[in-house]
Amino acid sequence: MSLYIGIDLGTSSLKLLLMDSAGTIHNTVTKEYPLEFPQPGWSQQNPEDWKKALFEGFPELIQGFDASLIRGMGCGGQMHGLVVLDENDNVIRPAILWNDGRTAKQVDYLNGVIGKDKLSQLTANIAFAGFTAPKILWMEENEPENFARIAKIMLPKDYINYILTGVHACDYSDASGMLLLDVEHKCWSKEMLDICHITEAQMPKLFESYDCIGCVKPEIAQLLGIPADAKVVAGAGDNAAAAVGTGVVGEGGCNISLGTSGTVFISAKEFPTLDNNAIHNFAHADGGWHLMGCMLSAASCNKWLLEDILGTSDHAAEQASIAEDKLGENHVFFLPYLMGERSPINDTNARGTFIGMTMDTARADLVQAVLEGVAFAIRDSVEVARSLGIEINKSKICGGGAKSPLWKRIFANVLNCELEIPVSEQGPGMGGAMLSMVACGEYASVQDCCKALCSVASTVKPEPELVVKYEARYQQFKKIYPAVKALFPEIQ
Ligand code: XUL
Repeated sequence: MSLYIGIDLGTSSLKLLLMDSAGTIHNTVTKEYPLEFPQPGWSQQNPEDWKKALFEGFPELIQGFDASLIRGMGCGGQMHGLVVLDENDNVIRPAILWNDGRTAKQVDYLNGVIGKDKLSQLTANIAFAGFTAPKILWMEENEPENFARIAKIMLPKDYINYILTGVHACDYSDASGMLLLDVEHKCWSKEMLDICHITEAQMPKLFESYDCIGCVKPEIAQLLGIPADAKVVAGAGDNAAAAVGTGVVGEGGCNISLGTSGTVFISAKEFPTLDNNAIHNFAHADGGWHLMGCMLSAASCNKWLLEDILGTSDHAAEQASIAEDKLGENHVFFLPYLMGERSPINDTNARGTFIGMTMDTARADLVQAVLEGVAFAIRDSVEVARSLGIEINKSKICGGGAKSPLWKRIFANVLNCELEIPVSEQGPGMGGAMLSMVACGEYASVQDCCKALCSVASTVKPEPELVVKYEARYQQFKKIYPAVKALFPEIQ
């Protein structure tokens, strides 16, 4: 038996899993770390915290197992975060994360002055605040001393891979979200690097997600208790890794991920040409490409309302108080823009909004409105994909939010889409481990690995009556943001 480690570098925690080549998960470990919001709409994390979680988590994960059987590992990581190291490999400043909204000015410059057409031609995408390129421009303008010290630019999971191997590498799926990659031709865009005043020498070497970038450094292997010849793959952005983990590869598969962020991910074999950049056009971890809509606050909206505002951690009890006959009948709506919003509205000023309350509005109505608001906002991205002629009537669903039966039911009805629940809920970690199995020759391709290891446990089907009710509610929801949009910059 050979063992593989999957690493999911998330926004709230690092999750590790130990898996064999037949897909059995033998152990999992989660290590949480803090997230800083130094100003409204800003979001950062200390890469040292990720490293600490890695060093604490590995020995726990493999305790009681024969570590000599570990052949490889792969990481699926939170995307877009800017990690910068100086010439002595010191982290220069906290990583600016995917849900950080400080770069509105730089986004306006890129989309307005460089121009959306030019960006789209160079990178297949336009600028969004969370992307890495605007953060580099922000750093140049606001922290020139830090900017001048940058020796290496990397994404969060690449920092983990760098600690493990000493190799400065990135895969195409994650690199796509930097707005520095020519996504169609899978190389750095020289013009984009020039626009951001950086050089290729500062950038990581590019790989396919299932390529081995090197072995674990002997001193690190010794510290972690793993074999020094264990292979590390380039890995993937967490959404691409989760799609591998749920078997969404090749042409036309769909995965919805309900984590801190909410994404809809559509896999494609050929490079998709788009005339609408409201959703992203990125490389996939299987060697192909994907389209993706990303909302910045998904399961985190529910957590915020329940835990921070209502002061309870009993999510199941709160959801149980939502009456069956209230589904599709809620007059309270919630715009889930607690961190601004990415897809498709691209508005860093947008804010969370409850609307429609009356004296008889109950706590359960607000809880329901949040679950529904997130589903409506994902539908906004699904509608962009549908407008491109892509049929979405079946999707996998994964992530912490997908543990709630009620939320899955709301999603199936709001999207009018059958949802398939994978046997394993391990998304990005499982995808990371699977990518390393391909690198170690267990499977000939990512597709083959998915065929062997990914299966569906159950499905949630849309219910015709609720689909009609939710269609009417969605049409109302759609009118709220345009009606209040102009107020957001004023009220901050
Ligand atoms: C995708 C995105 C988020 C993060 C979450 O574009 O920004 O899904 O990857 O970790």
